[in-house]
Amino acid sequence: MSKWLSHVTFFSVAILIGFLLYLFLFFFYQLDLNWPKVPPSEAAIEKKLAKEHLSFKNLKFDLVDPQDAPDAIKKMVNEGYHLMLYTHETIPQYAPHPINCTNCHFAGGLSLGGVGGGISLAGIAAKYPTWNRARDRVESLAQRINDCFAYSLNGKPLPLDSNEMLAFLTYFQWISSNYPIYQPAPWLGLIPLKSTHQPNPIKGKEIYAIRCATCHGQNGEGMHREGHDVNIPAVFGEKSFNDAAGMSHLSLLSSFVYHNMPFEEPHLSEEEALDVSAFILQQPRPVYSGP
Ligand code: HEC
Ligand code: HEC
Repeated sequence: MSKWLSHVTFFSVAILIGFLLYLFLFFFYQLDLNWPKVPPSEAAIEKKLAKEHLSFKNLKFDLVDPQDAPDAIKKMVNEGYHLMLYTHETIPQYAPHPINCTNCHFAGGLSLGGVGGGISLAGIAAKYPTWNRARDRVESLAQRINDCFAYSLNGKPLPLDSNEMLAFLTYFQWISSNYPIYQPAPWLGLIPLKSTHQPNPIKGKEIYAIRCATCHGQNGEGMHREGHDVNIPAVFGEKSFNDAAGMSHLSLLSSFVYHNMPFEEPHLSEEEALDVSAFILQQPRPVYSGP
């Protein structure tokens, strides 16, 4: 009898242990615990951040191809896209220096920002008209476009009723066509770096010489050949953005540089991006002289 009981106890305990083991394994896999923990590499962190950036709050967004625009607006959409890519070549009277919108808004703004994406403009038409803090008023998308003409290109604002302005607006409307109006798109705008490092322009000068000068030139002048697809824009000197541009703010420039430069292989630390940006902003550049 007691032998029989001890068998029952043994089996009950075995079943209990089995069940507990099952529960443990179940939760272990459910929680996707990566054990033992290996510290992730910096590249893995970057990749993860970029991925999170894109699917922020489960907001999924597919980039819209200019070629898929409906016939009625296709010509205008393509004109706008062309203007983004070849601004200086197409309208030198408004964009007098060899710098194009796409040099900062990569792929004509058709990206979702993050690492290597430049400053995204996907979904931009759903954000405007919006409050402009600096001006303390609501600003239209056309006015915002003209801000970049006046400051980033150090050029002239387009007449609001011009064909070119209509082309930009049609293009932006199309690349925002599957984005909900007035939902803040997490990929818009440059996110300032977290580092509290005190920028050191002397170190920045060295970084510039090693990591940037091969493309942007010793004097920041860039490299431009008329009629050539490759345009490396100026980062300082007379052909660069002016002192009123967004890029003239250390927080925006350093974020852009950290996420995007050197071109196609961004690898600077936040501290290096701050140092090199501080150096760039100490160099001469056009002074905004408009109204
Ligand atoms: C391999 C060449 C290359 C290197 C190296 C490089 N850049 Fe660039 N940079 C580019 C190109 C090309 C663009 C424009 C990208 C486009 O049009 O898609 C650009 C754009 C920029 C812009 C925005 C446009 C402008 O001129 O204001 C800044 C700022 C910039 N680079 C800063 C830097 C800094 C700082 C470094 C060094 C850390 C650097 N770049 C290294 C090629 C390079
Ligand atoms: C030298 C770099 C540079 C160039 C060239 C440039 N931009 Fe910008 N642009 C910026 C910066 C910086 C911002 C502000 C980003 C932020 O708010 O974080 C911006 C913002 C914008 C915005 C508003 C984005 C938003 O999220 O509200 C629009 C629209 C825009 N640019 C259009 C253009 C057009 C059109 C051109 C060409 C005519 C152009 N930009 C050329 C740097 C540039």
